[in-house]
Amino acid sequence: MSMPTFRTAVVRTSGGPGAIEIIDVPVVEPGLGEVRVEIAAAPVNPVDLGVASGFFHAMGLINQPEHTGLGWDFAGIVVATGPGVDLAVGTPVAGLVVGFDRDFGTYAEQLVVPAADLAVVPDGLDLVAASTVPLNGLAAAQIVDLLGDAPTGGNRLLVTGAAGAVGGYVASLAQDRGWWVTGLARAEDEEFVHSLGAGFTTHAEPGWDAVADGAALQEQGLALVRDGGAFVGVRPNAVPATERGITVAVVVTHPDGPRLGDLLARTASGELPARVHTVMPLDQVADAHRAMAKGGVRGRYVLQP
Ligand SMILES: NC(=O)c1ccc[n+]([C@@H]2O[C@H](COP(=O)([O-])OP(=O)(O)OC[C@H]3O[C@@H](n4cnc5c(N)ncnc54)[C@H](OP(=O)(O)O)[C@@H]3O)[C@@H](O)[C@H]2O)c1
Repeated sequence: MSMPTFRTAVVRTSGGPGAIEIIDVPVVEPGLGEVRVEIAAAPVNPVDLGVASGFFHAMGLINQPEHTGLGWDFAGIVVATGPGVDLAVGTPVAGLVVGFDRDFGTYAEQLVVPAADLAVVPDGLDLVAASTVPLNGLAAAQIVDLLGDAPTGGNRLLVTGAAGAVGGYVASLAQDRGWWVTGLARAEDEEFVHSLGAGFTTHAEPGWDAVADGAALQEQGLALVRDGGAFVGVRPNAVPATERGITVAVVVTHPDGPRLGDLLARTASGELPARVHTVMPLDQVADAHRAMAKGGVRGRYVLQP
């Protein structure tokens, strides 16, 4: 009898969308504290384009002998549980896997993950929408942790890329911590940014108490912070050097099941946006990457295996 397998999209020889292959790999049983999820939806994030293009291989961050997995977040259904797990088979869940150097990813029919990294998808939130939350919702929540509570008398926060996935969530969540938020985005994004309860600009002058750099403007973003202010970046491997007494931090997003549960609940209630651009079959993954690479996309391409 042949071993059971499942399909997954990987890069063997990196080099852009054309280098993505769909291969069959053996089914793995969940170990202690793990579950196996049948994936229903996995979004395409900017980081995936960098993995496919070889950007992170060239940085020395990926050293897989056979192939590298694609995809960071997902939603699906628990189909098997290991010892010590109290999630029932059939439960809808969403989650995040992190790290560049791995031979598996969420662009797949299945995934084995620690149950602690997952959150149950609440009733009323479909799995496609739920799949778009984990990576960028948690990134934003953890950026807001790095910003902390807004200091009295110095609470003007500029969020760059406020119409993007990370920036949109930061613009919303930072208000919980007392920040008075302005979103930097394109002219056509004004309505969306206002819908988050944030101010809007297409051109920011320097002098902000803090900048959360969802657009990865890097040194240009840092230049917008006042002397002694705060900057939180999104590129752990290219952190701008501090200047003028500015506190520079960078987010390295990590799984957090309970936090994700809160973000999913706030998405289900409509408090946080759920933005899906197009749902595509996994077989069209290269087309989704090519479309994302053109820029200007609002909402995620979501792959269905
Ligand atoms: N460190 C981590 O753990 C972590 C986690 C998640 C994401 N990230 C990184 O965070 C970044 C954002 O991710 P994302 O998913 O939010 O990307 P996204 O959805 O593409 O959002 C980026 C947004 O920035 C806008 N933008 C770019 N340059 C701009 C400018 N000069 N003025 C105004 N808006 C500008 C883009 O608009 P256009 O499309 O019109 O250019 C887009 O709306 C990426 O670099 C990603 O890799 C890091």
